[in-house]
Amino acid sequence: MLYSGYMKKKVYSGIRATNRLHIGNYLGAVKGMLTVQEDYDCIFSVVDLHAITTPYDTKILQTNVREIIIDYLAAGLDPKKCLLEIQSQIPEHTELAYLLSTIYPVSRLEDLPTYKDKKAQYPKYVNMGLLFYPVLMAADIMLYKGELVPVGIDQEPHIEVTREIVRKFNSMFGETFPQPHRFNTEGEYVPSLTGNGKMSKSVEGSYITLTDDLETIRKRLANAPTDSGKVGGQIERDKEGVGALFTLLYLFTNKQDGSLDHIYEKYENEYRDKTIRYSQMKEELANLIFNELQPLQEKRKYFEEHPQEVDEIIAESREKCLIRARETIQEVKTKMGLIYR
Ligand code: TYM
Repeated sequence: MLYSGYMKKKVYSGIRATNRLHIGNYLGAVKGMLTVQEDYDCIFSVVDLHAITTPYDTKILQTNVREIIIDYLAAGLDPKKCLLEIQSQIPEHTELAYLLSTIYPVSRLEDLPTYKDKKAQYPKYVNMGLLFYPVLMAADIMLYKGELVPVGIDQEPHIEVTREIVRKFNSMFGETFPQPHRFNTEGEYVPSLTGNGKMSKSVEGSYITLTDDLETIRKRLANAPTDSGKVGGQIERDKEGVGALFTLLYLFTNKQDGSLDHIYEKYENEYRDKTIRYSQMKEELANLIFNELQPLQEKRKYFEEHPQEVDEIIAESREKCLIRARETIQEVKTKMGLIYR
């Protein structure tokens, strides 16, 4: 038996099926999912239709999809409490996206920072799907009448687009959809290990994946930039460079019970007193990260060894998602005058 709870607040979120999940995805999105699954009616998706808007390999796309489902399960998403969806298995996502595209201006999409970033990153791959990305994302959320969306802060412009589409739809065709809001976590912005910008799957050297062993984590951290250690003063975590290391240390020591606070404070004090040794700080940070990831890696092994269980979870979720998706499409098409009565 999978999940229950139709009357609870509805939550939707998704992660693109590109590469392995990194600790930015984990702290910014998955941790939020873990919190909300306890109280709300949740659907968490692997969004493969979004993944194909940037260059990808057809041979490994489905492997990536499955790896993310396994990452979800390994992280503690519980099929008794939430549904795990593969976006392309529910054709209603694209149907709703098309319907919504007819009420949203192209100019607004062209202005979005996420679109401009992707255009700059893949100048030879500027396709319609990329421009359409936020409309499909709005459709994902609206298909299940999502009210809360656990995502990192980089996704705020897309949530705003969703709210705009909701308002427009409701005003044109009658009250139908709730306006969704982002559910944020402490790790809503995890910086890149390069000390510059955010941790990202598409920037090599910027990330630590959820499946990295201790040695790999150490190696990746070794490349993170530091300073002379003689700067002194109050560390500013939002500054580029060494601020990234301190942000990571903060995120991996900031536990609710305060048990690890002293570690962060120790390095903050050493930074201020100009006695900091970054090699020691990196070693301690590597251990902290690995300690958090190790239980996930253990759990991952279980699901890798029980593929049939994973198949069943996907199939049961799909059935339940399809029923709900069809209901919404029926309602939307009726309101838009597309169903003859
Ligand atoms: P994606 O795959 O790019 O990112 C997945 C999630 O990880 C978060 N994230 C981060 N959080 C903190 N720090 C970082 N460095 C970092 N990097 C990534 C992202 O904010 C996101 O929550 N467009 C979505 C996928 C999507 C979606 C949806 C999400 C498609 N449809 C509907 C919610 C609802 C995305 O960015 O995926």
